[in-house]
Order: sequence, then structure tokens, then C-alpha cells
Amino acid sequence: MSYECILVETRGEGSRKTGLITLNRPKQLNALSDQLMDELGQALLAFDADDGIGCIVLTGSERAFAAGADIPTMLPHTFMSAFKSGLISKNWETILQVRKPVIAAVAGFALGGGCELAMMCDFIIAADTAKFGQPEIKLGIIPGAGGTQRLPRAVGKSKAMDMLLTARMMDAAEAERAGQVSRVVPADQLMTEALAAAETINGFSGPSVMLIKELVNLAYQAPLSEGVGVERRYFHALFGSEDQREGMGAFLEKRAPAFKHS
Ligand code: HXC
Repeated sequence: MSYECILVETRGEGSRKTGLITLNRPKQLNALSDQLMDELGQALLAFDADDGIGCIVLTGSERAFAAGADIPTMLPHTFMSAFKSGLISKNWETILQVRKPVIAAVAGFALGGGCELAMMCDFIIAADTAKFGQPEIKLGIIPGAGGTQRLPRAVGKSKAMDMLLTARMMDAAEAERAGQVSRVVPADQLMTEALAAAETINGFSGPSVMLIKELVNLAYQAPLSEGVGVERRYFHALFGSEDQREGMGAFLEKRAPAFKHS
């Protein structure tokens, strides 16, 4: 498969590798065009279907993860053309179908749709140069890929309102304090750190990894009692897996487990 707006490669040493996707429209600061989002969706689904891949890292450039949806192509839209073409929704939600973890490695600008895309990933590792923001209000629009919903869940109502209504940017340190990102690292160590996190996850049992992702996402949708109940069922179910025997057996035998992802 050849792509024009993204770079796709495989990294890692173990039996399960990392799928690395780099947004690559440098002249437009990785503005998220329709073509880019189509390609990203295809690449994500291909890695998700590949048994040799344990998890996925999504990154941009040193200057920008992504500066938002592509403004020139949005400008001519009318309500009816946006509505009929499914502007945004049709290829922006593919990432939500992915069952393996997707780690966002963010340096530079993550604005508008770029910030929303990062929030659709499972966790965000930020370079100390990262800047997050939802500046749509400056363009006379509002976020359209979940920004008004995921940002308050990530950082709380007051900071989300501040960001969305004033269009100010949040630097990496503020984003970490607010819970928007899981860790901040020096910019020159961003990819090393993100790929090391991916490698750690690749070494664990695939079914455990996928179930944790599903259950944490359920925490944002279901009442606590339902989420805990589903967790208990899956917890029981994993006692039917080979990897549970291997993981616990390896601990008692004081050796590294060799998971079969089954
Ligand atoms: C298309 C973009 C772009 C965008 C930047 N560029 N953002 N092109 N869509 N979202 C282009 C610029 O036009 C410019 O092209 C080049 O990238 C470099 O940008 P500069 O503005 O010259 O760089 P700088 O002065 O460093 O400012 C960087 C910036 C600024 C702060 C990120 O570019 C900016 O404010 N961009 C817009 C951010 C934004 O509003 N994002 C939200 C978009 S709406 P030329 O050809 O002049 O060199 C959105 C809605 C989402 O995301 C809805 C659901 C997904």
C-alpha cells in the first residue's frame, strides 16, 4: 500500500512489533485533509488486523503533530455540503474501531482536529515542545471531532471551558498537570520513549492488552457498577487463556513469561 500523506513503518525487536505511523504534510503543519484521514484509517486498520503487531504509535513532526483540520478545503463548505458529505465524521472515527493500543507521540502543535485526534488515541506522550489547543472559535466554528466532549473529560470543566472559549494554547507542562498527557519528555527523546512504551506493551499478553483498552473506554460510557461487572466477567474469562497459566507459572518459576497471545 502506498501513501502520500503519511509514512508507515514497523519497529521493534520482539515477536510482536510496533506499527509506527507518521503524519507527513510538513508544508501544512500536518493539517488533516480528507486524503490524510482516509490513509490514516487504512493504515490503522491494517495494523490492527496484523497478528505480528502489538500496538501502534502515531506521531507527527518536530514542529507539529497536526495543526488541525485542513482549513482551505473546509472554507467553501455550506451547511448542506458539510451535512451530505459527512464532513469530518466519515473518516475521523476509524481510529475508534482500533482494538490495539494507539499511543500519540506529540511534539509541537496539536491544535483543533490535531488535539482531537491525539485525544482519540489511548494515551499521549508529549515532548516538552508540545502545545495543545482548540482554537476553532477563532475561525467562527466549533470543534467537530469530539473536542467539546473529550477535553472536559480529560482536564475538567473549568480548564476545558478556558481552552475552548479563549482559544489559548496549553504547553506540555500544563497539559501534564491537567491530566491531558501521561508524561512529558525532552523533545529529542520523544520517539525513544514512545517506542519503548510500545515495546513494553508488545511483550504482554495481547488479549489482556485489548481488554484493558476496551474496559478503560467503557469507564467513560457506563455506570461504575456496569463497568466493574463487565471487568469481573473478563477477569474470569482470562482464566481460560494459555497466557494466564504462562504468566503466573513464569512468576513462580522466576523467569520471563513467553506469552502466546492466546
Ligand atoms: C491548512 C495550515 C493549517 C491548517 C497551518 N497551516 N495550519 N494549512 N490547515 N489547519 C499552514 C499555514 O497556512 C502555512 O502555510 C503553514 O501551514 C505554516 O503555518 P504558519 O501559520 O505560517 O506558521 P506559524 O506562524 O508558526 O503558526 C503556526 C500555527 C498557525 C499557530 C499552528 O499555523 C495556526 O494557527 N494554524 C491554524 C490552527 C487552527 O486554527 N486549527 C484548527 C483548524 S479547524 P503557507 O502556505 O502560508 O506557508 C479544525 C476543526 C476540526 O481543526 C474539526 C473536526 C476535525
